[in-house]
Formats: sequence, structure tokens, C-alpha cells
Amino acid sequence: MPEASTDALTAHYRSLQHDWQVSDGSQSYGRLVVPNGNANRPFHRWFHLKEAYSSALLSQLLKDSGWIFDDDFRVFDPFSGSGTTLLSAIEVGAELPDLSISAVGIERNPFLCELGSAKVLGRIKGSALATDVDAAGRKVVAYLNGGVGALDVEIPHQSTLKNEKYFPRQNVLDLVALRHAIDEICATDDAVRSILRVCLASSVEACSQLRRDGRALRYAPQRDPRPAVPVFNERVASAVQDLMFTTPSSAAARIHYGDGRNPLVAAGDHSYDWIVFSPPYPNNIDYTEVYKTEAWILGCYESAQDMRKQRLSTVRSHPSVRFDLEYSYSMLDVAADVDRVVDPLIEAVPADRYAVGRREMIRGYTDDMFSTLKACRSLVSKNGRLAFIVGNSAHGSQNSSAFVIAADVLMGTLAELAGWRVVEIKIARQLKRRTSDSEFLRESVVVLEPV
Ligand SMILES: C[S@@+](CC[C@H](N)C(=O)[O-])C[C@H]1O[C@@H](n2cnc3c(N)ncnc32)[C@H](O)[C@@H]1O
Repeated sequence: MPEASTDALTAHYRSLQHDWQVSDGSQSYGRLVVPNGNANRPFHRWFHLKEAYSSALLSQLLKDSGWIFDDDFRVFDPFSGSGTTLLSAIEVGAELPDLSISAVGIERNPFLCELGSAKVLGRIKGSALATDVDAAGRKVVAYLNGGVGALDVEIPHQSTLKNEKYFPRQNVLDLVALRHAIDEICATDDAVRSILRVCLASSVEACSQLRRDGRALRYAPQRDPRPAVPVFNERVASAVQDLMFTTPSSAAARIHYGDGRNPLVAAGDHSYDWIVFSPPYPNNIDYTEVYKTEAWILGCYESAQDMRKQRLSTVRSHPSVRFDLEYSYSMLDVAADVDRVVDPLIEAVPADRYAVGRREMIRGYTDDMFSTLKACRSLVSKNGRLAFIVGNSAHGSQNSSAFVIAADVLMGTLAELAGWRVVEIKIARQLKRRTSDSEFLRESVVVLEPV
């Protein structure tokens, strides 16, 4: 991108954030916007979601805002991923036993929705579920060892799972057989079934020669794929341990399979004290792709069309499919204001072969985030707060064609058009990319309050 256009875009971002308090929040938040520590925390450790934030983020937000609890505490997350926000809300309740907690999440990816839901269920029921999960896990493996694994299971019609360079054939057959066994044995107990299915999903990567690098699954020839049953046994053992040492909670929490951009039905007629979320960043990561092997092993898709349909229902943050070109904001009285915010970004997109896809993504993302923020405005309580965590991203492979999408500034401005005030942008991390040294290349925590 020519220097003059980079300067114009930087000037645009600077003028949009001019009246906000923008501070260096790296000391407190640098380690909280990533899943730091989650791998060692009960329940959070059931599956490593690279894009999650820390289980300690919510309590830091509450502390920094000087939040004073009433009798109850209501939390909402429209993009709940692995369920970090809801679990953290339940933990808040565990420390304040007189506080009544209700937490609602929405997630579009069928595997991630099941993951978050199982963790939430496990955290609420705790020790009351430990014996049942342990017994069912043993039955599942006995069922398989009794020869049922040799039953008529098929490798799913998915090219990665069929590719023996990535997955030994027997491993995939065993993973699918485990799923059949879980569904059969736990047919009448949804909570136990769901927890065992998550143990199964968290075994998939270890059975392969693939590694997730954040953007995609990569071939890792140095990796030794492990057989499915011992990995599954280990995952069940650690889930049982977490359950066993957890006092049941009285919190009410649930993750809905749905669309966070249109949350009103799932969120109910509550008014929430805190809405906390991290949307997909406009950085080309396609969650449907990154978590596809787990979803296929769990039987979430039966055909390539199922998976495509799933992709099309996600936030327009990636160009892996051509999304529809409908922008609901264009029907509203704020349309011209939204255009004024987004048009300079669209104009800054270099005219190369990616230009059409990038322009569509930027306008689609703007529309999706505006819908989310507007809907959330009607869900927040009078004195409530919303905090979103978002990373800005550099696009274009060379310095001459690089430009930054400052999602924090974009969303903050859209929030103002949707009836919020930006309380503060806390810069959690300054990001480094070869192609850009923009001051806007950063990951932020943005705090809003209703006006
Ligand atoms: C950055 S991740 C959230 C991670 C979460 N904060 C955690 O700690 O686990 C964004 C999530 O948004 C989900 N998502 C994408 N499109 C969605 C939609 N239309 N509705 C709800 N969730 C969606 C993705 O599947 C992904 O799980």
C-alpha cells in the first residue's frame, strides 16, 4: 500500500479514537487475552482452544471496574467458544456463595458448542457426576475391547481423515468406534455423554500427524500419532479428576447453539450485568476449518454441504466462502454514519487479486459487529458493562500492499452508533508483523457502557 494511503488510514483511526481513553493495559491484560494458565485449570484444560482468553480475564475486568455485586450476577457471551466466560462467571459465584449466578452463551460451531456446554455442565454438577463419567468411560472402552470396535464403522467422508499421511486408518476407525460406543452406552444421560464426547474430541489431534497453528491444520511429520484408546482413557481420567474435586454449584448457565449476531431469543428477556466476548477477529481464521476433524469425528457433519452450510452461518471474518452481500445496517438511519467509518478502510484495500474478497469481508464484518453490538445494547442492564477483546490484523503480504484492519477502533465506533459509550481501550498487546509497523497493530480490551 502506498505510504500516502497508509498515512490516511492511520489518520482515520486516530481521529476515530481521538476522544477515547486509550491506555497501556499490557501489565494486567497482556497475559489475559490469550489462554494463559487455562491448560492447568480444571475444566478449562479439557481442550486447548488457542483462540480462547484466560479464565482469569473476567475477574480482572470486575476488579478494574470496581464492580459492586447485587444479589445476582448475570453474564452473557454471544461468541462463547470453549465457554471461558461462563466458567469464569461460575467461579465468581464459587467465591461468593450468597451470589446467584446466571450465565448464557451462544456458539455457532457445533463442536465448540458441545465443548463449552460439557464444561459448563461438568463445572455445575461437579463431584455428583464423577462416578458416572468414570463408569461410563470404562464401559465404553470395554465395549470396544469386546470386539464392538471391529463393527461396521466407516471413516467419515472427509479428506483429511481419509488421508493416511495425516491419520493412521486404524486410529480414525477407533475414534469413530469410540463415538458409536459413547452414543450407545450413554444414550439416556446427556451430561455424561457430552463429557465423554468432549474427551473423545480432545483425543483427535494426538492420534494424528497434524498440528493446529492457529490458522490451519499443518502436517507435522515429526509427530508420532498415538493410538486412540489410551489417549481417550487419559482424557477421561483427567475429566473425572476435575469432577471429583469440584463442589457442585447452584449457578444457572447454558450455551445455546445459535447465532451471536442475533442473540435476542437465546439470551431471553434478561438484562445482563456484564456482556463479555471475543468475536472472531477479521484475520482470516475460519473456525469451521480449524476444528473440522473434531467435528467430523463427533458426527456433527455428514457431508461437505453440511460443513459449507456451517461456514456460511459464521461471522464474516474470513474469505473461505463467498458470503451473501446483504448488509442489514444499510436499512437503518445510521447507514451513512457506518459508511463514513468503514469506507476509508475499504478504499485502503490494495487493488490486487484479493481485493474483492477483502472488501466484502470488511463490509460483512462491519455489518456483523454492528448487529451484535446493537442487539447487546438491548440486553445490558442500566449500570451494566460490555467488554470485548479483539485483535487488529495486518493484511497483504508485502510492505507495499500491507494495511491494518483496526477492529478495536472500528467496533468501538460502531458501538457508539449502537447506543454505547467507549469507557476505555486497554491495549493488551502490541503485535509484531513483518509487513507492518503500524501503531494500530495491537490486541485490545474495549470496555463500553450504555448511554
Ligand atoms: C475468539 S473465539 C471465542 C473464544 C472464547 N472467548 C473462549 O475463550 O473460548 C470466537 C468464536 O465465535 C464463534 N462464532 C463464529 N461465528 C459465530 C456466530 N455467527 N455466532 C456465534 N458464534 C460464532 C467461533 O466458532 C468461535 O468459537
